[in-house]
Amino acid sequence: MAAILEVDAVSKHYLRGGERIVALDQVSFRIDQPSVTAIAGPSGSGKSTLLGMLARFDRPDSGSISVDGERLDLIAETQLDQYRNRKLGFVFQQFNLVGTLTAQENVELALSPQALSPSERSRRAVAALEMVGMDHRLKHEPSELSGGQQQRVAIARALVNRPSLVIADEPTGNLDGKTAQQLLELIDNLNRQVGTTFVIATHDQRVMEMAHGVVRLADGRQVA
Ligand SMILES: Nc1ncnc2c1ncn2[C@@H]1O[C@H](COP(=O)(O)OP(=O)(O)OP(=O)(O)O)[C@@H](O)[C@H]1O
Ligand SMILES: [Mg+2]
Repeated sequence: MAAILEVDAVSKHYLRGGERIVALDQVSFRIDQPSVTAIAGPSGSGKSTLLGMLARFDRPDSGSISVDGERLDLIAETQLDQYRNRKLGFVFQQFNLVGTLTAQENVELALSPQALSPSERSRRAVAALEMVGMDHRLKHEPSELSGGQQQRVAIARALVNRPSLVIADEPTGNLDGKTAQQLLELIDNLNRQVGTTFVIATHDQRVMEMAHGVVRLADGRQVA
């Protein structure tokens, strides 16, 4: 099977007031398409650091990451938006919605590099919001939505381009039990029916149970 994601001996450190923090230490794994993989580990273990590098928001100090056989460190800055838009859907831990735009406009923003008519743009955004049960709040701005609702808008934005790889940072972290369960069912359906691959950083036992594989981190190191 073709690997959609290969992480090879990736290390990353941060410097803070003279202190050297090893966020990731020689992390390696590969993920086949289509699958669901959980990145698990306590707070501060390096999950968000790893996910940020998969979207090339940041680069490893050493080691390499390939998506669909393409080395991320070799993608030119000018090609990055295209890489993120076409191949990836990213759900941030802090949502990162645009505060001055409505839920629907936030989702449409992810479609903007594509040449679509306004009605098609709107149709796709509404369909993505419907998938996460947010089509009743299309015209609300983020400040008018609950945390769990903002989370779901962020998920709709990540799914709207039908990317082959979706990277999600704690997507169930702000959801109640029932909404989290619905999200897990949506992930499972997209994985089985559309073939979407998911990489999900999580503390949630239910996500780990539904995942095909779990990468466990502790203090930036992989643990068995
Ligand atoms: N920009 C930064 N500058 C300095 N240290 C950082 C920075 N970002 C993260 N760290 C440190 O790197 C380590 C890994 O952080 P990271 O955010 O990846 O953890 P996490 O596993 O996502 O945690 P959580 O479950 O709380 O989201 C932590 O010790 C954190 O304090
Ligand atoms: Mg995190």
